Amino acid sequence: MRKTMIAANWKMHLATHEASLLVHRLHQHIKTHRDIEIVLAPTMLTLQPLSLEIDRRRFRLAAQNAYFKDEGGFTGEVSFTMLRGLVHYAIIGHSERRIYFNESLEMIRDKVAAAIRNEIAPILCVGETKHERDARETRQVLHDQVTTALSGLTADEVSQVVIAYEPVWAISTFGGEIARPLDVAEALKFIRYEVSELYGQNVADEIRILYGGSVNEHTAGGYLALDDCDGALVGSASLNYHSFAAITDVAFRMSHQA
Ligand code: 13P
Repeated sequence: MRKTMIAANWKMHLATHEASLLVHRLHQHIKTHRDIEIVLAPTMLTLQPLSLEIDRRRFRLAAQNAYFKDEGGFTGEVSFTMLRGLVHYAIIGHSERRIYFNESLEMIRDKVAAAIRNEIAPILCVGETKHERDARETRQVLHDQVTTALSGLTADEVSQVVIAYEPVWAISTFGGEIARPLDVAEALKFIRYEVSELYGQNVADEIRILYGGSVNEHTAGGYLALDDCDGALVGSASLNYHSFAAITDVAFRMSHQA
């Protein structure tokens, strides 16, 4: 059984006091759903204070990024080694990092390996741009991103990875078109197929695949109903406690209908 994950990517929003306030509201509004894993990804600066404030039975923390070297002369960076014990997860290869910070396939592969080496489970983001979609290159792009990022890992390590399919054109930052669940279903199925080709059916059955891109309380149900969808990675709507709590409620209701 794959546990549903609802993850909040706060991106570069919320200073420490604002993040604390949001966590306080989430404690009030999110019911304890044992079957749903709720993950919060605040900025690097707020991870430590939030780790002292969250109810660990209800929330887990994720970093939004880290550097693949364990230590050294890399001014401005924070390593996965430094995050060890502080976070369960790290978002790796988000399209904003691929596009704004020129993160290459190889750098993302090295970050995935560094996370695993430091006992942090990667939430690996993949997805095609609008241009690639229009050129019907979606499968090729997903193939390249998945294959490179996971290369060098054992089957056991791959089963700890969470993959988030986030078509770039559906992310609010890049236009926020609403993706049709039918199209999302096809991409998720293809990603699982790719994992089965590389690591076998057991790993493909175990690995969790999320959907991300303009998910809110109204659209979440359509994606969560898909066979291959094991949760959501939520951006804008995760900054609003009503919306985010409502998304977790939808996930809870749907996990109980299944
Ligand atoms: P939005 O939900 O704001 O589209 O962001 C999605 C995302 O990038 C999550 O990582």
